[in-house]
Amino acid sequence: MASTIEERYLQLHPKSSLMSDKSVDLFPDGVTHDGRKFSPFRVYMDHGLGPRKWDIDGNEYIDYRTGHGAMILGQAHPAIVKAVSEQVAKGTHLSASTENEVRWGTLVKELVPSAERLRFVSSGTEAMMMTFRMARSHSGKSKIVKFEGAFHGWADGPFVGAANDSPEGGIPPQVRETMIVLPYDIAAVERTLDEDDDIAAVVFQGNQVIHPSFLEQLRDVTRQKDVILIFDEVVSGFRFSRGGCQGLYNVIPDLTGMAKILAGGLPGGCVAGRADIVNTVSPGRIAHPGTFNANPLSSAAGAAALELVANEPINATADARAQQLKNGLNELLTKMEIPGCAYGVSSIVHMRLGVPHECDKVYCEAGEQAMMTAAGDDTTHLLNQATINEGIWGNPTSFILSATHSEADVNLTLEKYETALGQVRAEGKI
Ligand SMILES: Cc1ncc(COP(=O)(O)O)c(C=O)c1O
Repeated sequence: MASTIEERYLQLHPKSSLMSDKSVDLFPDGVTHDGRKFSPFRVYMDHGLGPRKWDIDGNEYIDYRTGHGAMILGQAHPAIVKAVSEQVAKGTHLSASTENEVRWGTLVKELVPSAERLRFVSSGTEAMMMTFRMARSHSGKSKIVKFEGAFHGWADGPFVGAANDSPEGGIPPQVRETMIVLPYDIAAVERTLDEDDDIAAVVFQGNQVIHPSFLEQLRDVTRQKDVILIFDEVVSGFRFSRGGCQGLYNVIPDLTGMAKILAGGLPGGCVAGRADIVNTVSPGRIAHPGTFNANPLSSAAGAAALELVANEPINATADARAQQLKNGLNELLTKMEIPGCAYGVSSIVHMRLGVPHECDKVYCEAGEQAMMTAAGDDTTHLLNQATINEGIWGNPTSFILSATHSEADVNLTLEKYETALGQVRAEGKI
C-alpha cells in the first residue's frame, strides 16, 4: 500500500508519471543517467532559473542537484544565455579552432595552479581517461593507483573500484589488472609504490571529503617515489576555490582532470598539468582527436563562466550558503533528536543520518550512512519523496549549492526539510 508521502507524490506528478511510462520501453530503468532512477517514477523537469526549477506538472523546486554540480552560476545565468545565444547564431561547429577556445584555455591556466598546458575534451569521463593515458605515456609504466569507492567517470580503467563496480560490468580482466585500489591510507600507498615499480600515477578524487593533511602526505609520497599525482577535479574544480581543491589546500598535482563548472553548464572537459606531461599529446605519441573538443558553444559558455568565477564572489557566495544550510541542518537534527550530522567542504553539504556520533561537521569520519538513498532503503527513499513533494530537488543527504541560492532560499529549504522529516517520522520511520 502506498504511504501518505507516496500518495502525495503520485498526486503531484501526473504528467511525469505518463512520461515515465513512455520511457521504460526506451531506456534501461527509463533513464539515461543512473543517478536519475527513482521509484515509483522520476520527475521530468521543464525549465530552471537561478536556483529554481519547474517540472512538467508545474511544481516548483529549490535545486540542490544543480546540474550534477555543473551549475554553480544557477540555471539560465544571463551571461551564459547571452554567450550561447550569440554563438548559436554564428554556428555551432566550425570544424576549426576558435578565438573562444583560446580565451577559455587562458582562463583555465590563470585559475588552476597546476595548469601549465591543457587540452579540451567533451566530458569528465574523457578527461580522466586522458589523464591516465598521459601518465602512462610519460612514465612508460602501466598501472594506476586509485582509492576505494572513488568515481572517475565510467570508462573501463577509471571505473574499477567505484562504488557500483560489478564483476559482470563488462570491464576486461586485463584492464582490471592495470588498476590498484587502495584504502585512504598513506602507509598503504607508500608500501604499494615501494613494492611495484610499474605504477604510472596515483589518482585522487578532489571532492572526497578528507582532511587536507592526507593530500599533503600524498603529494610528498608521490614526489619522493617519482610517481605522477593526478587530481580528479571534475566536481571540485572551480568550486572548492577558484583554482579547485588544489587552490583551496595548496597541494599541487602533476595532472588535473576537470569538467562540469568548466564548461558553464554545457558539455566539456579538460586535462591540464605539467607541460612535459601534457605534451605527450604529440605526433608519434598520444593522438587526440574528438569532434566536439572545445566546440564553439562549450567554449563560449565555458569562457563566460570562468570569467565570472575569476571576477565575482561566486565561490565565496556558494560557500556561505552551504555553511548556512549545514548549520541549519545540524540544528534541525539536534532539535528533532535525530542522530547524525551535516558536514562537508566548500559548497557541497553531505548528511550522515541515523549514526549517533560527535564530529567536526567538516571532515566527519563517522562510519557508514545508516540511511542511504539506495533503492533498498525505504527510509531515505521516503525522505527523498517527501523532500521532492515539499519542493526540494536533489538527494536528501547531499546538497550542491550555487551562487544564486539566497539566504531566504536556504531558510525556506530548512523549513521544508523539517516538514519532510516530520512526515517521515509520522510514518514511523525515524
Ligand atoms: C569526480 C568525478 N569524476 C568524473 C566524473 C565523470 O564526469 P562526466 O559525467 O562529465 O563524464 C564525475 C561525474 O559526476 C565525477 O563526479
